[in-house]
Amino acid sequence: MLFKDKVAIVTGGASGIGEASAHRFAAEGASVLVVDIRRERAEGVAESIMEAGGEAHGFGADVAEPDDVEAMVAAAVDRWGGLDVLYSNAGTIRPGTIQTPPVQRMMQEPAALERNLAAHALRRLGHPDEIASVAVWLASDESSFVTGEAIVVDGGLRAQSPLGRLADPRPSHLR
Ligand SMILES: NC(=O)c1ccc[n+]([C@@H]2O[C@H](COP(=O)([O-])OP(=O)(O)OC[C@H]3O[C@@H](n4cnc5c(N)ncnc54)[C@H](O)[C@@H]3O)[C@@H](O)[C@H]2O)c1
Repeated sequence: MLFKDKVAIVTGGASGIGEASAHRFAAEGASVLVVDIRRERAEGVAESIMEAGGEAHGFGADVAEPDDVEAMVAAAVDRWGGLDVLYSNAGTIRPGTIQTPPVQRMMQEPAALERNLAAHALRRLGHPDEIASVAVWLASDESSFVTGEAIVVDGGLRAQSPLGRLADPRPSHLR
């Protein structure tokens, strides 16, 4: 287990990528504070982690509010005695199109789905677990010599699409 006796916070943990990540951290042994602006849904995710044999607690917080952020860190430390991992599930990794609830709503329009499938070299959308597994790896000792990396997890979106290349922060001579 990668996170035995460790404590993790996952923000935006009530849905999509954050929910999948909360489950993965817990499956790897972490005690997980599932934080979301939608407290009841965060509590629901924590309950389902506990039902699966993990350790978790749901916590309501708006991560744009400094007082809420302090409170969420205090909640993890008070409950489990420390904090080892903070997964700020907002822009820490650079996904392609991932099948989460907001994306699934958008993809109900056939043309939008077709455009998105064509934009990815793998010709499919990503699954939240495929982001969660990278987040877990990055936060673990398995990536112990990796520092400050922005890892692209995009099913070949950037590699083949002009839109993707535009989103590439590297100077054009390095792409
Ligand atoms: N799904 C994709 O294809 C995709 C692509 C690029 C970037 N992202 C980014 O990945 C992150 C997760 O996306 P998702 O698709 O899983 O979305 P989602 O809507 O399924 O989950 C996001 C969660 O964050 C919570 N949240 C929103 N604002 C918050 C706040 N201020 N404080 C606390 N919680 C808050 C929401 O209540 C929700 O439960 C987002 O930052 C999104 O912009 C997603």
